[in-house]
Amino acid sequence: MTKVLINDVLVDEKEAKVAFNDRGYNFGDGIYEYVRLYDNKLFTAQEHFERLLRSAGEIGLDVDYTVESLTKSVRLLAEANGVTDGGVYMQVTRGVAPRDHAFPTPSVEPVLTAFVKAYDRPYKALEDGVTVMTTEDIRWLRCDIKSLNLLGNVLAKEYATKYNAEEAIQHRNGIVTEGASSNVYAIKDGIVHTHPANHLILNGITRRVIQWICDDEGITFHEEPFSVEFLKNADEVIISSTSAEVMPVVKIDGQVVKDGQVGPVTRKLQKGFDRYIESHSHE
Ligand code: PDD
Repeated sequence: MTKVLINDVLVDEKEAKVAFNDRGYNFGDGIYEYVRLYDNKLFTAQEHFERLLRSAGEIGLDVDYTVESLTKSVRLLAEANGVTDGGVYMQVTRGVAPRDHAFPTPSVEPVLTAFVKAYDRPYKALEDGVTVMTTEDIRWLRCDIKSLNLLGNVLAKEYATKYNAEEAIQHRNGIVTEGASSNVYAIKDGIVHTHPANHLILNGITRRVIQWICDDEGITFHEEPFSVEFLKNADEVIISSTSAEVMPVVKIDGQVVKDGQVGPVTRKLQKGFDRYIESHSHE
């Protein structure tokens, strides 16, 4: 039977209930994380849970979790479900209170829910690459917070899906920010270009791993805004996320990237990523 986590209690998924007045449901008032499990080990869990605590702080959500307590909860969940390879989704809402925009006073207990899902690495897509569509970034101006408010991302992804594309690449007035659920890179003349990690994008953990690989390999990691036109004229294009890893992009808005083949810098980053899975996954 599938078990999910509600606060620190494991519950049968079929019996799991959340309250009608949960602020996550009414306002999207909460934050989340998504962590990968490889071979029964959590990958970059420290970085993910530190980001969760940062997101909580940025929305004034008081939580008493620590990186250690969150890691323990997630391990418990994975073990209870016998999942060794997959992903763990975890969200925390501001809690249950009668609907009123301002924070409840006195404050209420946050509600943590989590589930785990088994799946394999996306080997075929990592080999062949994926297609993407570009679309205007209509989201709020605190995209650095991993908030439950994802309607802008949802609409962007739906647009891409309509065109049978894997991801939507968002741009503000022609400047590429990030994907609906990934970061974006344009590789030109051996240099990896990506949007700076400011309020307009989520500072992806996979993005940080890519930066580490670039440092190891002597590849320049250039954090400067670039245009959709620059992206379309790049030698290689990548998107990255916890589930997509270092994913090559071979087509943008129906137009092939370069010659449509996955390029050498992408392959180098993918190899480096495999090494980081080994070195940064822990029990
Ligand atoms: N999404 N940007 C956005 C908007 C994202 O939603 C994500 C991840 C990323 C990449 O972050 P990371 O490398 O830490 O996964 C960038 C997760 C996977 C999700 O929403 O399920």
